[in-house]
Amino acid sequence: MNKLEVPGKFDRAARGYDFLVGLNPGYHQALRRSALALGLRPGMRVLDLGCGTGASTAALVAAAPGVEIVAVDASAGMIARAREKRWPSTVRFVHSRAEDVDEGEFDAVFAAYLVRNLPEPDPTLTRIRELLKPGGTLVLHEYSVRDSAVSTAVWTLLCGFIVPAGWLVTGDRSLYTYLWRSVMDFDGATALRDRLRRNGFVGVRSAPLPGLQLGVVHTFRGHVPEQEQR
Ligand SMILES: C[S@@+](CC[C@H](N)C(=O)[O-])C[C@H]1O[C@@H](n2cnc3c(N)ncnc32)[C@H](O)[C@@H]1O
Repeated sequence: MNKLEVPGKFDRAARGYDFLVGLNPGYHQALRRSALALGLRPGMRVLDLGCGTGASTAALVAAAPGVEIVAVDASAGMIARAREKRWPSTVRFVHSRAEDVDEGEFDAVFAAYLVRNLPEPDPTLTRIRELLKPGGTLVLHEYSVRDSAVSTAVWTLLCGFIVPAGWLVTGDRSLYTYLWRSVMDFDGATALRDRLRRNGFVGVRSAPLPGLQLGVVHTFRGHVPEQEQR
Protein backbone atom coordinates (compact mmCIF):
# COMPACT_ATOMS: atom_id res chain seq x y z
CA MET A 1 0.00 0.00 0.00
CA ASN A 2 1.23 3.48 -0.89
CA LYS A 3 1.61 5.45 2.39
CA LEU A 4 -0.46 8.33 0.96
CA GLU A 5 -3.41 5.89 0.98
CA VAL A 6 -3.12 5.13 4.72
CA PRO A 7 -5.55 7.82 6.04
CA GLY A 8 -8.19 6.68 3.50
CA LYS A 9 -7.82 3.12 4.78
CA PHE A 10 -8.36 4.42 8.33
CA ASP A 11 -11.63 6.04 7.16
CA ARG A 12 -12.88 2.55 6.49
CA ALA A 13 -11.42 1.10 9.71
CA ALA A 14 -12.66 3.94 11.96
CA ARG A 15 -15.86 2.23 13.12
CA GLY A 16 -14.04 -0.84 14.48
CA TYR A 17 -10.88 0.92 15.70
CA ASP A 18 -11.80 1.44 19.36
CA PHE A 19 -13.12 -2.11 19.67
CA LEU A 20 -9.94 -3.57 18.15
CA VAL A 21 -7.48 -1.57 20.28
CA GLY A 22 -9.63 -2.44 23.31
CA LEU A 23 -8.69 -6.12 22.75
CA ASN A 24 -5.14 -5.19 23.79
CA PRO A 25 -5.45 -4.75 27.58
CA GLY A 26 -2.35 -2.53 27.83
CA TYR A 27 -3.06 -0.24 24.87
CA HIS A 28 -4.39 2.80 26.73
CA GLN A 29 -2.06 2.39 29.71
CA ALA A 30 0.96 2.35 27.38
CA LEU A 31 -0.24 5.55 25.68
CA ARG A 32 -0.64 7.23 29.08
CA ARG A 33 2.90 6.19 30.00
CA SER A 34 4.32 7.74 26.83
CA ALA A 35 2.20 10.90 27.32
CA LEU A 36 3.76 11.33 30.79
CA ALA A 37 7.20 11.44 29.11
CA LEU A 38 6.21 14.84 27.65
CA GLY A 39 6.50 16.39 31.12
CA LEU A 40 3.40 18.53 30.51
CA ARG A 41 2.61 21.39 32.89
CA PRO A 42 -0.42 23.69 33.21
CA GLY A 43 -0.49 26.44 30.59
CA MET A 44 1.28 24.38 27.92
CA ARG A 45 0.02 23.85 24.34
CA VAL A 46 0.37 20.33 22.98
CA LEU A 47 -0.14 18.91 19.49
CA ASP A 48 -1.43 15.32 19.13
CA LEU A 49 -0.40 14.33 15.60
CA GLY A 50 -2.24 11.36 14.09
CA CYS A 51 -4.79 11.45 16.94
CA GLY A 52 -7.12 8.92 15.27
CA THR A 53 -10.29 8.34 17.31
CA GLY A 54 -8.73 10.18 20.26
CA ALA A 55 -7.02 7.37 22.22
CA SER A 56 -3.75 9.33 22.31
CA THR A 57 -5.68 12.56 23.02
CA ALA A 58 -7.32 10.89 26.04
CA ALA A 59 -3.86 9.85 27.26
CA LEU A 60 -2.76 13.50 27.06
CA VAL A 61 -5.86 14.67 28.96
CA ALA A 62 -5.12 12.07 31.67
CA ALA A 63 -1.43 13.05 31.84
CA ALA A 64 -2.13 16.78 32.18
CA PRO A 65 -5.74 17.86 32.69
CA GLY A 66 -6.29 21.45 31.54
CA VAL A 67 -3.47 21.72 28.97
CA GLU A 68 -4.53 23.02 25.57
CA ILE A 69 -4.57 20.16 23.05
CA VAL A 70 -4.81 20.48 19.27
CA ALA A 71 -5.46 16.98 17.90
CA VAL A 72 -4.85 16.42 14.19
CA ASP A 73 -5.57 13.54 11.85
CA ALA A 74 -5.70 13.12 8.06
CA SER A 75 -8.59 10.62 8.20
CA ALA A 76 -12.01 12.30 8.23
CA GLY A 77 -13.55 9.05 9.52
CA MET A 78 -11.18 8.79 12.50
CA ILE A 79 -11.59 12.48 13.42
CA ALA A 80 -15.39 12.12 13.21
CA ARG A 81 -15.24 9.24 15.73
CA ALA A 82 -13.03 11.32 18.02
CA ARG A 83 -15.42 14.30 17.89
CA GLU A 84 -18.36 12.09 18.96
CA LYS A 85 -16.73 11.63 22.39
CA ARG A 86 -16.90 14.00 25.38
CA TRP A 87 -13.85 16.23 25.71
CA PRO A 88 -12.81 19.11 27.95
CA SER A 89 -13.15 22.55 26.31
CA THR A 90 -9.32 22.67 26.07
CA VAL A 91 -9.33 19.98 23.32
CA ARG A 92 -9.83 20.82 19.64
CA PHE A 93 -9.78 18.43 16.65
CA VAL A 94 -8.43 19.43 13.22
CA HIS A 95 -8.71 17.43 9.99
CA SER A 96 -5.30 17.84 8.31
CA ARG A 97 -2.27 15.89 7.19
CA ALA A 98 0.56 16.11 9.73
CA GLU A 99 2.75 17.57 6.98
CA ASP A 100 0.41 20.57 6.54
CA VAL A 101 -0.29 21.57 10.15
CA ASP A 102 -0.30 25.34 10.64
CA GLU A 103 -1.67 25.92 14.15
CA GLY A 104 0.98 28.14 15.74
CA GLU A 105 3.75 27.09 18.15
CA PHE A 106 3.61 24.26 20.66
CA ASP A 107 5.43 23.34 23.87
CA ALA A 108 5.12 19.64 23.08
CA VAL A 109 4.18 17.26 20.28
CA PHE A 110 2.91 13.69 20.76
CA ALA A 111 2.75 11.32 17.78
CA ALA A 112 1.44 7.84 18.60
CA TYR A 113 1.73 5.29 15.78
CA LEU A 114 2.15 8.04 13.17
CA VAL A 115 5.76 8.37 12.01
CA ARG A 116 5.92 4.88 10.48
CA ASN A 117 2.94 5.83 8.30
CA LEU A 118 4.47 9.02 6.88
CA PRO A 119 5.51 8.93 3.22
CA GLU A 120 8.49 11.17 4.06
CA PRO A 121 9.30 11.00 7.77
CA ASP A 122 12.43 13.21 7.67
CA PRO A 123 10.86 16.39 6.20
CA THR A 124 7.86 15.93 8.51
CA LEU A 125 10.12 15.62 11.57
CA THR A 126 11.85 18.82 10.47
CA ARG A 127 8.42 20.47 10.18
CA ILE A 128 7.52 19.22 13.68
CA ARG A 129 10.74 20.75 15.00
CA GLU A 130 9.70 24.08 13.47
CA LEU A 131 6.28 23.82 15.17
CA LEU A 132 7.95 23.38 18.57
CA LYS A 133 9.18 26.27 20.68
CA PRO A 134 12.92 26.28 21.55
CA GLY A 135 13.36 23.63 24.27
CA GLY A 136 10.04 21.98 23.27
CA THR A 137 9.60 18.22 23.55
CA LEU A 138 8.63 15.57 20.98
CA VAL A 139 7.46 12.14 22.13
CA LEU A 140 6.89 9.35 19.63
CA HIS A 141 5.01 6.22 20.71
CA GLU A 142 5.86 3.69 18.03
CA TYR A 143 6.32 0.07 17.06
CA SER A 144 10.00 -0.67 16.57
CA VAL A 145 11.17 -4.27 16.31
CA ARG A 146 14.10 -4.40 13.92
CA ASP A 147 16.82 -4.27 16.56
CA SER A 148 15.73 -7.58 18.07
CA ALA A 149 15.00 -10.99 16.55
CA VAL A 150 12.81 -11.78 19.61
CA SER A 151 10.71 -8.59 19.19
CA THR A 152 10.37 -9.30 15.46
CA ALA A 153 9.10 -12.81 16.23
CA VAL A 154 6.73 -11.50 18.96
CA TRP A 155 5.33 -8.95 16.49
CA THR A 156 4.72 -11.62 13.84
CA LEU A 157 3.01 -13.81 16.46
CA LEU A 158 0.79 -10.91 17.60
CA CYS A 159 -0.14 -10.24 13.97
CA GLY A 160 -1.38 -13.83 13.73
CA PHE A 161 -4.23 -12.48 15.90
CA ILE A 162 -4.37 -8.81 14.80
CA VAL A 163 -4.69 -9.41 11.04
CA PRO A 164 -7.65 -11.85 11.20
CA ALA A 165 -9.34 -9.80 13.97
CA GLY A 166 -9.02 -6.58 11.89
CA TRP A 167 -10.29 -8.37 8.80
CA LEU A 168 -13.26 -9.82 10.70
CA VAL A 169 -14.27 -6.50 12.27
CA THR A 170 -13.76 -4.20 9.23
CA GLY A 171 -14.18 -6.58 6.28
CA ASP A 172 -10.86 -5.32 4.84
CA ARG A 173 -7.55 -7.08 5.38
CA SER A 174 -5.26 -4.61 3.59
CA LEU A 175 -4.74 -2.15 6.49
CA TYR A 176 -3.78 -4.99 8.85
CA THR A 177 -1.38 -6.74 6.47
CA TYR A 178 0.10 -3.27 5.84
CA LEU A 179 0.40 -2.84 9.64
CA TRP A 180 2.43 -6.07 9.93
CA ARG A 181 4.68 -5.28 6.99
CA SER A 182 5.19 -1.58 7.76
CA VAL A 183 6.39 -2.42 11.30
CA MET A 184 8.72 -5.12 9.93
CA ASP A 185 10.18 -2.59 7.45
CA PHE A 186 10.34 0.39 9.84
CA ASP A 187 13.34 1.68 11.81
CA GLY A 188 14.67 -0.24 14.77
CA ALA A 189 14.97 1.83 17.95
CA THR A 190 18.60 2.76 17.17
CA ALA A 191 17.71 3.95 13.66
CA LEU A 192 14.72 5.97 14.90
CA ARG A 193 16.82 7.68 17.59
CA ASP A 194 19.39 8.49 14.86
CA ARG A 195 16.61 9.80 12.61
CA LEU A 196 15.47 12.17 15.37
CA ARG A 197 19.04 13.44 15.89
CA ARG A 198 19.54 13.85 12.12
CA ASN A 199 16.44 16.06 12.03
CA GLY A 200 17.69 18.39 14.73
CA PHE A 201 16.44 16.88 18.02
CA VAL A 202 18.76 16.72 21.01
CA GLY A 203 18.75 14.69 24.25
CA VAL A 204 17.20 11.79 22.32
CA ARG A 205 16.28 8.74 24.43
CA SER A 206 14.02 5.72 24.04
CA ALA A 207 12.64 2.97 26.26
CA PRO A 208 10.55 -0.13 25.53
CA LEU A 209 7.07 -0.22 27.08
CA PRO A 210 6.10 -3.03 29.48
CA GLY A 211 3.23 -5.49 29.10
CA LEU A 212 2.12 -7.00 25.80
CA GLN A 213 4.05 -4.17 24.13
CA LEU A 214 7.38 -5.34 25.62
CA GLY A 215 10.10 -4.85 23.04
CA VAL A 216 7.54 -4.05 20.33
CA VAL A 217 6.29 -0.56 21.26
CA HIS A 218 8.72 2.09 22.52
CA THR A 219 8.60 5.64 23.81
CA PHE A 220 11.04 7.97 22.02
CA ARG A 221 11.74 11.44 23.36
CA GLY A 222 13.77 14.35 22.01
CA HIS A 223 13.94 18.12 22.45
CA VAL A 224 14.41 21.14 20.24
CA PRO A 225 17.63 22.90 21.29
CA GLU A 226 17.04 25.86 23.65
CA GLN A 227 19.07 28.11 21.34
CA GLU A 228 17.21 27.10 18.14
CA GLN A 229 17.71 29.78 15.43
CA ARG A 230 14.40 30.80 13.73
C1 LIG B 1 -2.75 3.66 14.36
S1 LIG B 1 -3.64 5.18 14.27
C2 LIG B 1 -3.19 5.92 15.81
C3 LIG B 1 -4.27 6.77 16.40
C4 LIG B 1 -4.01 7.28 17.81
N1 LIG B 1 -2.82 8.12 17.86
C5 LIG B 1 -3.89 6.15 18.79
O1 LIG B 1 -2.87 6.09 19.47
O2 LIG B 1 -4.79 5.33 18.89
C6 LIG B 1 -2.68 6.14 13.11
C7 LIG B 1 -3.40 7.43 12.69
O3 LIG B 1 -2.50 8.22 11.92
C8 LIG B 1 -3.26 8.86 10.91
N2 LIG B 1 -2.36 9.28 9.83
C9 LIG B 1 -1.67 8.51 8.97
N3 LIG B 1 -0.94 9.28 8.14
C10 LIG B 1 -1.17 10.55 8.51
C11 LIG B 1 -0.68 11.82 8.06
N4 LIG B 1 0.19 11.90 7.06
N5 LIG B 1 -1.11 12.93 8.70
C12 LIG B 1 -1.99 12.86 9.73
N6 LIG B 1 -2.50 11.70 10.18
C13 LIG B 1 -2.09 10.56 9.60
C14 LIG B 1 -4.27 7.82 10.48
O4 LIG B 1 -5.38 8.42 9.81
C15 LIG B 1 -4.63 7.18 11.81
O5 LIG B 1 -5.76 7.78 12.40
